[in-house]
Amino acid sequence: MKNISSISEMRQTSLAWKREGKRIGFVPTMGFLHGGHLALIRKAREIADVVAVSIFVNPTQFGPGEDYERYPRDLERDTRLCEEAGVDAIFCPRVEDMYPEGWSVHVDEARLSAGLCGRSRPGHFSGVLTVVAKLFNIVLPDTAVFGEKDAQQARLVRQLVVDLNLPVRIRVLATVREPDGLAMSSRNARLSPGDRKRAAVLYGALCRAQAAVRGGERRSSAIRENMRTFILSAMAPVDIEYIEIVDAETLVPVDVIENATLIAMAAMIGGARLIDNVTVAPGGAR
Ligand code: PAF
Repeated sequence: MKNISSISEMRQTSLAWKREGKRIGFVPTMGFLHGGHLALIRKAREIADVVAVSIFVNPTQFGPGEDYERYPRDLERDTRLCEEAGVDAIFCPRVEDMYPEGWSVHVDEARLSAGLCGRSRPGHFSGVLTVVAKLFNIVLPDTAVFGEKDAQQARLVRQLVVDLNLPVRIRVLATVREPDGLAMSSRNARLSPGDRKRAAVLYGALCRAQAAVRGGERRSSAIRENMRTFILSAMAPVDIEYIEIVDAETLVPVDVIENATLIAMAAMIGGARLIDNVTVAPGGAR
């Protein structure tokens, strides 16, 4: 496995792969890899001839007071996991190379990023889309693989490649969960054992929402209220940042569930901001 930090070396490596007719699969990450990332890497290996993984804690997607400095990092372990997973190259650029003195162009999106995490994290998705566009231009992937846990991010990246005509196919994979249902996330590492146990309640609330839709409930307000009550009764005090029920494609809030609908939430538990979601469709949860 190549371990690359230089932007030009990464691009040269990808160009050489392309000359050999190899299809490049790409998994962008911020490191501190877990089973969810490994599932994305396995998928990339399945659908491409070579796989590149970027490991870059992107400062521009963290707001002031967020956890950029505290974001968990372990490059040695990540390197070993990538090697064991059969990755062909890891790309770990330096912040000053990705954002050199004087950089000023960034990617903004105004519609899909307005709600959900975009509302509570102003500028976050601009940082995500900017770095993803840069990474695509450096790694030159044929296919990039993202996780459904970050549903809004995945939807935005799909829009990015359409609107900017980027020749990259986007695959989005189902969330990988711990045995108790908690969505795998690098931030779970920051939970105390007590908070880690409590955190599974979030997925419990999403499962209740799915069951309610299966049982015929269509009113978003009733589903949201039920989830909130369930979470607060199981683990108060908890800071629920949002519970939103939105059209899965437009991300616009819906009052009545009729089409494929995303039920998404964010909550602060013990200082860690956790997000999770499920998609439901009338007639049955997905
Ligand atoms: O999902 C993530 O880990 C990040 O948002 C991404 C896509 C690697 C961009 O920094």
